[in-house]
Amino acid sequence: MSGTHPGLSNNFIHSGEKFEWSKDNAKSIKKIISKYPSERKQSAVMPLLYLAQEQNNNWISIECIETVAETLEMPKIRVTEVVSFYSMYNTQPVGKNLVQVCRTSPCWLRGSNKVTDTICKQAKCGINETSEDNLFTVVEVECLGACSNGPVVQINNDFFEDLDEESTKKIIDNIKNNIPNTIGSQKGRKSSENA
Ligand code: FES
Repeated sequence: MSGTHPGLSNNFIHSGEKFEWSKDNAKSIKKIISKYPSERKQSAVMPLLYLAQEQNNNWISIECIETVAETLEMPKIRVTEVVSFYSMYNTQPVGKNLVQVCRTSPCWLRGSNKVTDTICKQAKCGINETSEDNLFTVVEVECLGACSNGPVVQINNDFFEDLDEESTKKIIDNIKNNIPNTIGSQKGRKSSENA
């Protein structure tokens, strides 16, 4: 089962490689769990899944779920329920950069189709596909919650707003060439102030 992007999902959480917490994450986990009463440590399931995803090349495998369940002493099915509900958890391998293009009306009216075409051309893969170099997976999603600054694209944890073909091309090319991108509005807009 999966709540991940429908186009990527084939209704299964996939098996991956053996998964154990890294030393750094083992330390972070202690800190996270200490924020909750000891009898409520299961409340830490979402941040732990997030750490697991980061450590596991941007996706949650069955082995990640097992490790999180064991760490929090909770049934695997309860962890699976959380993973399958939220689209921020990827239940199958994705490229190094998960590119989520908003296709909902406000972004569409502002040209998200052209943005999508540019991304697919520059990343050399179609929608719901991963590029051969494993650098990009491109998916279309519904509203990302930044409608006034559309078209909007989320790449991993970063939002890129006020996009057009030129700025989109630059962002993808910069990623390919390891050049840092400017996050947020590509037209210099502050927050969501009037254009
Ligand atoms: S419609 Fe695209 S962010 Fe809301």
